[in-house]
Amino acid sequence: AQVDKGGYKHFMAKEIAEQPQVLQGALNHYINADATAMTLPQGLDFTAVNRLTMVACGTAFYACMVAKYWFEQLAGLPVEVDVASEFRYREPPVTDGTMAIFVSQSGETADTLAALRYMAGKAMQIVSVVNVPESSIARESDVALPILAGVEIGVASTKAFTCQLTTLATLVLHAARQRGRIDDAALADKLAALRALPGLMNTALGIEDRTVALSRDLAEARDILFLGRGAMYPLALEGALKLKEISYIHAEAYASGELKHGPIALVDPHVPVIVMAPRDSLFEKTVSNMQEVMARGGKVLLITDSQGAAEAGDGVWQVLLMPSIDPFLAPILYALPAQLLAYHTAIAKGTDVDQPRNLAKSVTVE
Ligand code: G6P
Repeated sequence: AQVDKGGYKHFMAKEIAEQPQVLQGALNHYINADATAMTLPQGLDFTAVNRLTMVACGTAFYACMVAKYWFEQLAGLPVEVDVASEFRYREPPVTDGTMAIFVSQSGETADTLAALRYMAGKAMQIVSVVNVPESSIARESDVALPILAGVEIGVASTKAFTCQLTTLATLVLHAARQRGRIDDAALADKLAALRALPGLMNTALGIEDRTVALSRDLAEARDILFLGRGAMYPLALEGALKLKEISYIHAEAYASGELKHGPIALVDPHVPVIVMAPRDSLFEKTVSNMQEVMARGGKVLLITDSQGAAEAGDGVWQVLLMPSIDPFLAPILYALPAQLLAYHTAIAKGTDVDQPRNLAKSVTVE
């Protein structure tokens, strides 16, 4: 069926705005209404798995990076993550008990498909997380998990990313339960938190007006830095990717703790530093990273919750407030401000948001 912009100026704007609804659909598919049970395909067996290999490209790769933190913390599974173009030519040895997971919106990315074929016959099980169920990657997997994002047209991925993360989060909980790593009460708690996501996303989208104003300032910058820690580090990477893809501003992301190992040399009043940091157990360390930036005249845009904002102290240039959320799911919610900032910065610069130069929606050739 033909998809239109539904009254929005761009497909990207529509796809950002519809995330609460599409995510709701994905949650309905994987979790029952009272958030007590999950439905995942038969045959997904993590009990004998002792290692995960996750492979993807672009935004899907950052979804894998988030999932690595989750699988390790919640399911006790070591995870290796790699971009498909590197993985496929490395000839990585595959040890017994390895499950391979491939994440792809289109299900047709040439490098990801080649990586999957490399793992066929070597991994215990090949699992894919895809938006197109009839795609090559889905067809060649033992188990294909649909992300149910609906057709995504904007070249810069938005709703597919949050639906990939949501699907991976349920997969992680499934693995944690099968491996006896999570008790019923904790599982019910996490499922309820997932169920609450669409509502929190609606609230988070309320920052759009503020991002319009902020983006006019960001559009003046030549370089922008993104920082994050833990599972927010991949979100910083995704924020930088989104921004450079559509606004053509040079953006780089670092793990906050790496600041003093290089990027701090770039900090001056003309380089905005966007810090993605919910108030979690590592927040204090992030505050000291921000102070290092501010002491060098850098202007910090902090994306956090109200407790984080209260603890951040003086000197922060701007704060974008997110609703508070279980830190486990913060990477899904914090994708929204990253998308909105990229979108409105691109609008302020007048670039082609839905069809950025030199980029393709799906890279089916090497
Ligand atoms: C291209 C797109 C990105 C996407 C990447 C991987 O670079 O522009 O938005 O993340 O391919 O695509 P896939 O379909 O495999 O998720």
